[in-house]
Amino acid sequence: MMPKTALSMLLLLAGMVLPILTVGARKAIPPPCSQICHNGKPEKQNLTYPFGFSPGCPIQLNCTDDGDALIGKFRVQSASSETVTVTIEAQCNRSFEAIANLYGRNYAPIGKNSILLNNCTQISPCNLPNTQVIQAQYQSLCETKNMANTGMSCYSEEANNYSIKFLNRSRLSALGCKFFLSSMSAEALNNVSVSLGVQMLQLAWWVNGDECECSRDADCVRLSGLPNGGGNGFRCKCRDGFLGDGFLAGTGCQRAESSPGRKKEETLKVLTIVLPLMVLLVVSMLILGAVYVIRRKRKFAEVLEDWERDYGPHRFKYKDLYTATKGFRDQELLGAGGFGQVYRGILPTSNIEIAVKRVSHESRQGMREFVAEIISIGRLRHRNLVALLGYCRRKRELLLVYDHMPNGSLDKYLYNQPKVTLNWMQRLRVIKGVASGLLYLHKGWEQVVIHRDIKASNILLDAEFNGRLGDFGLARLYDHGTDPQTTHVVGTFGYLAPEHMRTGKATTSTDVFAFGVFLLEVACGRRPIKHGHTEDVILVDWVFSRWDRGEILEARDPKLGLEFVEEEMELVLKLGLMCSHANPLMRPSMRQVLQYLEGDLPMPESSSVGISSAGSTVAHREGFDNLAFSSSVAESLLSGGR
Ligand SMILES: *[C@@H]1O[C@H](CO)[C@@H](O)[C@H](O)[C@H]1NC(C)=O
Ligand SMILES: *[C@@H]1O[C@H](CO)[C@@H](O)[C@H](O)[C@H]1NC(C)=O
Ligand SMILES: *[C@@H]1O[C@H](CO)[C@@H](O)[C@H](O)[C@H]1NC(C)=O
Ligand SMILES: *[C@@H]1O[C@H](CO)[C@@H](O)[C@H](O)[C@H]1NC(C)=O
Ligand SMILES: *[C@@H]1O[C@H](CO)[C@@H](O)[C@H](O)[C@H]1NC(C)=O
Ligand SMILES: *[C@@H]1O[C@H](CO)[C@@H](O)[C@H](O)[C@H]1NC(C)=O
Ligand SMILES: *[C@@H]1O[C@H](CO)[C@@H](O)[C@H](O)[C@H]1NC(C)=O
Repeated sequence: MMPKTALSMLLLLAGMVLPILTVGARKAIPPPCSQICHNGKPEKQNLTYPFGFSPGCPIQLNCTDDGDALIGKFRVQSASSETVTVTIEAQCNRSFEAIANLYGRNYAPIGKNSILLNNCTQISPCNLPNTQVIQAQYQSLCETKNMANTGMSCYSEEANNYSIKFLNRSRLSALGCKFFLSSMSAEALNNVSVSLGVQMLQLAWWVNGDECECSRDADCVRLSGLPNGGGNGFRCKCRDGFLGDGFLAGTGCQRAESSPGRKKEETLKVLTIVLPLMVLLVVSMLILGAVYVIRRKRKFAEVLEDWERDYGPHRFKYKDLYTATKGFRDQELLGAGGFGQVYRGILPTSNIEIAVKRVSHESRQGMREFVAEIISIGRLRHRNLVALLGYCRRKRELLLVYDHMPNGSLDKYLYNQPKVTLNWMQRLRVIKGVASGLLYLHKGWEQVVIHRDIKASNILLDAEFNGRLGDFGLARLYDHGTDPQTTHVVGTFGYLAPEHMRTGKATTSTDVFAFGVFLLEVACGRRPIKHGHTEDVILVDWVFSRWDRGEILEARDPKLGLEFVEEEMELVLKLGLMCSHANPLMRPSMRQVLQYLEGDLPMPESSSVGISSAGSTVAHREGFDNLAFSSSVAESLLSGGR
């Protein structure tokens, strides 16, 4: 196959033979679209063409007096080369019609969003996991403000199907809702929801037209069948190494580094008229050769900055990792999760088995802090943590090198392979191991490390079937480089503590919540959320109802048969309920958890508050009236989006 760069070089040379072609490609069109607000202020979001505030802009927005861009009444948070994110503050009395502002000629809400609504006449097909949790929280908000409109609904496209591009407006309108309460935006990778944006909504944008009008250093994305009478459209995006909006009518693309590329071209153009074709041939052959060398070099190119030299031995060579994983072959793929794919590998010199995690990341922002943190976390050593050996950085990738865990992740044993399930003794050992690993993260070091993403698929089993926590600190990656205004929640549905979803703040207590869910998962052999036809079954609630009826042991994994110790099973199930209590103050600390597990501390009487008000995840209507959902909760929700 002909390398792409070589092709374009040849095309360039061909263009020189016929100089007529190249002239006039770069007309200086003065930008008719202004990014200055009506009051002369530059707007805060640094929007570029095609966004702007004058009539010449394909996507004309309004501005607040203090310089925030507006779509309808909604403030713009940020815009990327594909989407615009707007803030939708939770508001009980916002009329449903306000939603019309989000469906413009050049933009529309994408399928990742879930719209929260009030007073609908039809039942809506909300497939957002944890609907009940979210519903109860927002509902309590409207109730405490003494509004008449209760009965919250939610609209989203099919669960787990993010290939649906836009939210279907006609279906949304057909619900006959009175109020548009708020919105959430969920990011999903490989079925795993990793990130939840609270009180925000993402719109895809485009410029109308059948032909791409992009700078030649930009890639064009064509779109067809666009909603709102958009017809056909396109978006431009500058290629790697170029900066700018990418549009011919905008500022186009400029080379990121100041290189005299243009001048060289002009001289070359003159030369081509003089030089015979023979020379051209030789030149192109030389270029092909050079391209081959460059391509080879680029294949292994990595990003190395001065500050990284401090981290010395932790930095791996991309070439070594490439060789170790046999070129990231599919056969070496161990798994794919929320943060990226994991490959098995063998280091060429030492023959050590490793696991390499490829995390793609667009933003460079905060990378230094993040790498520093990863490295410092990498110094953590504990027999129940998967050791991080080092990292490597490339342009849009971060590669993290871990110890290889021969027995894979725990979820596989709980769900996928019923034949090789773990026995109770093994499960209890995994539980105790994970608890002591988590205690070490919380307490065993000079600084508190919050894991943020505890779940069965993040627990790995070593050769002796000891449970080890993987991926600690990784969720932080999504905190960096995002707009500080956004309440970006990171984690996995089903393991997120209610207050975490509301405030976006992770604490040791939200880790304990996830650990509680994990305990129940291991004991019951069930996923935290089971999608049903009518209603999702939330594991915590399900176990709670068993406990309520005095038959908590019924919740155990049927695959265990009769081979388990009743007292231990009861302890684990009750502890799971205690840890996943809706009220963070009612959850034990990891030190206490370990003491309960080791029998050093007796479990409190189960009739005491510890479990009885375990209003758990809110589905218990009777439970969320007390403690967990007092009005202060609603207030923090109201202020959350600012
Ligand atoms: C906009 O640009 C200014 C100056 O370059 C920068 O300080 C600011 O952080 C940018 N704002 C956003 C939202 O990117
Ligand atoms: C801007 O304001 C005008 C006048 O109020 C309105 O017609 C228009 O729809 C607004 N544009 C946007 C993008 O909100
Ligand atoms: C909605 O409620 C807010 C206070 O929560 C109030 O300021 C606003 O006027 C109300 N809007 C309407 C349309 O009732
Ligand atoms: C909203 O619905 C509730 C019942 O679910 C009803 O009591 C209330 O009056 C409705 N509010 C409005 C403004 O229609
Ligand atoms: C997702 O939606 C698309 C378009 O409606 C459909 O073709 C596809 O089968 C769906 N995928 C799943 C997993 O439901
Ligand atoms: C939106 O929903 C309506 C009604 O279900 C359906 O007829 C229409 O095809 C949908 N539009 C898109 C773009 O999926
Ligand atoms: C996504 O989930 C669906 C159903 O939950 C499952 O059938 C499918 O295999 C999953 N896809 C991936 C890539 O994990």
